[in-house]
Amino acid sequence: MAETFEGHYPIESRIGEIERLLDQGTAMAPDTETMLDLMGLAEGWHCLDIGCGPRGITDILSRGVGPTGRVVGLDMNKGFIDYARKSAALNTEFIQSDAYGSGLSADSFDFVHMRFLASTAGDAEALLKEAIRLARPGGFIALQEPDATSLNCYPPHESWETLKAALLGAFKGVGADLELARRLYFMVKQSPVRDVQFRPFIVGVTSSDAMVDYLPSTVESLRGTILNQKLLGEEELDRALRECRAHLALPDTSFTMYTVAQVWGRK
Ligand SMILES: C[S@@+](CC[C@H](N)C(=O)[O-])C[C@H]1O[C@@H](n2cnc3c(N)ncnc32)[C@H](O)[C@@H]1O
Repeated sequence: MAETFEGHYPIESRIGEIERLLDQGTAMAPDTETMLDLMGLAEGWHCLDIGCGPRGITDILSRGVGPTGRVVGLDMNKGFIDYARKSAALNTEFIQSDAYGSGLSADSFDFVHMRFLASTAGDAEALLKEAIRLARPGGFIALQEPDATSLNCYPPHESWETLKAALLGAFKGVGADLELARRLYFMVKQSPVRDVQFRPFIVGVTSSDAMVDYLPSTVESLRGTILNQKLLGEEELDRALRECRAHLALPDTSFTMYTVAQVWGRK
């Protein structure tokens, strides 16, 4: 029987998608560690990373909570879960489940985290509600979500603008909110979460960075949605991908990623 999961997550599980998510996670790791340090992640904590993909922040959590702690990574994508399980640390397990209704027990985690899930998978408020349900009273909840308007390259290039517009259009067309970062602090402040903290950051990329192919590869992973929504024709899309990759390979080209808002607080 086919599993169904809530939300409208539009990114396809093509070859290369795991690497795309791992590179993205590696680029954001220093800022994730800073947030966890500020929060006071400690040995022995039980942590949950909802929508962890092939790794998410489970590796950083695993090191932080040590052998007496426990980390659970949850995702709907079986391929991601199978991949993650292959290199899982002893204190870490991965489960395939729905972020909107995980079936996990209420009040059972010291820390519940989501990154790039509430923005891409439909209903941010419902996902926050589920995260709050799963945290123990006094436990922490954290979200890291993007504002894609800062996805800009220099020197400017038409192909970049074409791909950026296609990416934004594809997400918008399925009801995702790639500007969630702007209202994230407000949204969490409106919830029962208390002691809410706010820390935005932005990653910069040049031709020698692993993230250099971020925009073209993300658009590749949205190809079906972009073509179905008629945001671009196939030829136009392939030309923009080619030209953008050539532009990003130039040693003097740089770009900025999403502005990522980190918001965290206690139940
Ligand atoms: C943009 S990726 C982010 C992955 C990871 N959090 C990271 O930052 O590296 C979003 C993830 O959410 C997962 N996802 C989307 N909708 C979901 C749902 N309803 N239930 C569980 N996982 C979901 C996708 O499979 C994907 O792995």
